[in-house]
Amino acid sequence: MEKELILIIDFGGQYNQLIARRVREKNVYCEVVPNTISIEKIKEKNPKGIIFTGGPASIYQEDAPKCAKEVFELGIPVLGICYGMQLMAYTLGGEVKRADKREYGEMEVELNTTSSLFKNISENNICLMSHTDYVDVLPQGFEKIASSQTCKIAAMQNVDKNFYAVQFHPEVNHTVDGEKIIENFVIDICKCSGSWKMDLFTKTTIEALKEKIQDKKALCALSGGVDSSVAAVLLSKAIGKNLTCIFVDHGLLRKNEVEEVEEIFTTKFDVNFIKVDAKERFLNKLKGVTSPETKRKIIGEEFIRVFEEEAKKIGAVDYLVQGTIYPDVIESGLGKSSVIKSHHNVGGLPDYVDFKEIVEPLRDLFKDEVRKVGKELGLPDYIVNRQPFPGPGLAIRIIGDINEEKLEILKDADYIFREEIKNHNMEKELNQYFAVLTDTRSVGVMGDERTYDYLIALRAVVTDDFMTAKFAKIPYDVLEVISKRIVNEVEHVNRIVYDITSKPPATIEWE
Ligand code: XMP
Repeated sequence: MEKELILIIDFGGQYNQLIARRVREKNVYCEVVPNTISIEKIKEKNPKGIIFTGGPASIYQEDAPKCAKEVFELGIPVLGICYGMQLMAYTLGGEVKRADKREYGEMEVELNTTSSLFKNISENNICLMSHTDYVDVLPQGFEKIASSQTCKIAAMQNVDKNFYAVQFHPEVNHTVDGEKIIENFVIDICKCSGSWKMDLFTKTTIEALKEKIQDKKALCALSGGVDSSVAAVLLSKAIGKNLTCIFVDHGLLRKNEVEEVEEIFTTKFDVNFIKVDAKERFLNKLKGVTSPETKRKIIGEEFIRVFEEEAKKIGAVDYLVQGTIYPDVIESGLGKSSVIKSHHNVGGLPDYVDFKEIVEPLRDLFKDEVRKVGKELGLPDYIVNRQPFPGPGLAIRIIGDINEEKLEILKDADYIFREEIKNHNMEKELNQYFAVLTDTRSVGVMGDERTYDYLIALRAVVTDDFMTAKFAKIPYDVLEVISKRIVNEVEHVNRIVYDITSKPPATIEWE
């Protein structure tokens, strides 16, 4: 089957990957490429359509990003979005002007629904605008197909050439029917069949990795989380034993996780798997430490040291594999490589590992897409659907200082919590849920005996983005089962509380 590709030419807008996501949601394969891509390369890729993204620049700026003019001579449909529209207008002889003030927000836009771009959507639509420049004079051969009170040419088309452009952002949810606009472009105008599936991404990525890496060597730090596991499996499918995975067991993972990861990577996939048992080392470093930030710092640094020591034993490698996904890239800003917020990623980049280049096969994917790839590759559900787990692990779920006994208590309590959530079929409703071992002890009574034992807090949240979150309303009878089981089955715990604060003002983690 002919590969159908939509090429997204990146002019630096903050929503660019969202465009990619929307296109892929229509089951059409797409790639985001820099605006500096040559016309030869574009021809070689043979796209069925091209999308120009938005971007922060102004077209008359000296260093304004442009792209090869010949794009408009290929006979391929082009959709310009925001800056992309201005660039299209400017390049084809229209006029772009600068408004006195920026227009930002959800605006009512009147659409000409006889245009193929606006087929099957309502004439009055709410669209997200975010621009200062605007198209003032249409290029020859173009007609206006949308307008708003503040933007007289909110969209334009040249039907003969298949050029379309919108000043607003169809890729964001704020634009009602934006998704349909993208669909109209890729399916109706570009004539893509919409038959691409994640398995094709998987296949093409593996092939591209094979071609890139050939018989060279790659190294991957496995954390047991979804992203690094999926990245590692992709690489293992591409280069097999030329991939070495280092899994640092810092002793702060949840119950059974170390064994699960080890089993998968030693029995199901063909890689060199090195597990480093560094629990004692980490616990020694953490002895007596109570400050959450110091814990994070110690764990982050120690992780790098352990990883480096192991990597040194292997010697020089050509590639270092990172499980960076698209939201990590957004956080780090345009064009820079993905430096993730220090506290959000164990380790960051090791300083002394001898490698030539970083490979980030998941860089363009959103979390749910990474999960789909993981499933495709045969990773089990408990890895693929794993809830987020902080790099510093259980260390920031034990309030105050950490020791082995506390770790065991927390692991057992947390395991019971997770097991009951599963038993009650609530896994999908909750975005994150875990137990916290507080540093409070309280008086209880068990049998005839007075106890003075730990207080466990249960935390469960519902959230889209983890920036804000609501505490989950787990039914009392489920909480009751969990509470009874933990107190009965975990020694040294005699009281359970449920955290009913949302974020803000609380954070999701307790430390
Ligand atoms: P908070 O507690 O800030 O957590 O509301 C938001 C999300 O981030 C995770 N988190 C971390 N992840 N290293 C990580 O890799 C960290 O130090 C860290 N602290 C919090 C947390 O589990 C939640 O998903």
